[in-house]
Amino acid sequence: MKKVLIATVKPFAPAAITKMKKLLDEAGYDLQILEKYPDKQALIDAVKNVDALIVRSDKVDKEVLDQAPNLKIVVRAGAGYDNIDLDAATKNNVVVMNTPGQNANAVAELVLGMMVMMARNKYNGKPGTELKAKTLGIHAYGNVGKNVARIAKGFDMNVVAHDPYVSSEIVERDGIKDYENVEDMYADAQYVSLHIPATKQTIKSINYDLLKRMPENAVLINTARKEIIDEDGLLKIMEERPDFKYISDIAPDKKDEFESRFADRIFFTPKKMGAQTAEANINAGVAAVKQIVNFFENNDLTYKLN
Ligand code: 3PG
Repeated sequence: MKKVLIATVKPFAPAAITKMKKLLDEAGYDLQILEKYPDKQALIDAVKNVDALIVRSDKVDKEVLDQAPNLKIVVRAGAGYDNIDLDAATKNNVVVMNTPGQNANAVAELVLGMMVMMARNKYNGKPGTELKAKTLGIHAYGNVGKNVARIAKGFDMNVVAHDPYVSSEIVERDGIKDYENVEDMYADAQYVSLHIPATKQTIKSINYDLLKRMPENAVLINTARKEIIDEDGLLKIMEERPDFKYISDIAPDKKDEFESRFADRIFFTPKKMGAQTAEANINAGVAAVKQIVNFFENNDLTYKLN
């Protein structure tokens, strides 16, 4: 009997676990659950005899993989897989997959929700502004970016995008102006929403030189990864520009400094909330289970990352 471990520091909604368990029961697989675990050792202890592992942002590094001799597949129930050591997985003959798109709407709704909150001065009673007719630049037009664009159009925003990996044809087909040059997009967009992954190329790429191009009353929204921000550059622009605001679903390393210096112009969720809806948990969790069953039963390698 195949053993599947769900290991999540941030647990799935109970409704998602119920559906995942039902599918695994039907396939004749055994489900083990490790939630809110205290440290890496707890994960290492739990992976020892499992064939498959489902995680969220949980770190799956060489040490974890080396302690899992039966492990054949890890599925990151979500989009970003910077928490998984792909090289170590490949060396251990472990297939890694993600579940792209499954939580994209949840993240996109949070983007617009946080934008409204900041436009209304965090609901402090003072007159705020509207999103209508403002320009929103989407930095990376993937699954989340597309959903942000769709919802922002409902607010009558002027939506533009930059993504070197997506053709202009695809962006423009959605009625969105495509910017080949990232600096040009930042210069035109009062709001910029970040949807780039954290990679060697993108880490600290959102820096002072880029941010200084943004027009008056600039708002930067980050529901991607904290690592993509050059925090010193962001602190510098916020110091120079009292009109500049930053909203993030991932608190920066220098959270205390941002909070003590710019309290009115920042907002950080206490815990990464983008994918924290029952719907997104069900979508990503069920997809992860289906991918595991299909991998074992049909050797299906769709969404393999390594
Ligand atoms: C993702 O990459 O899918 C999102 O950042 C969600 O991450 P989470 O599953 O840890 O909430």
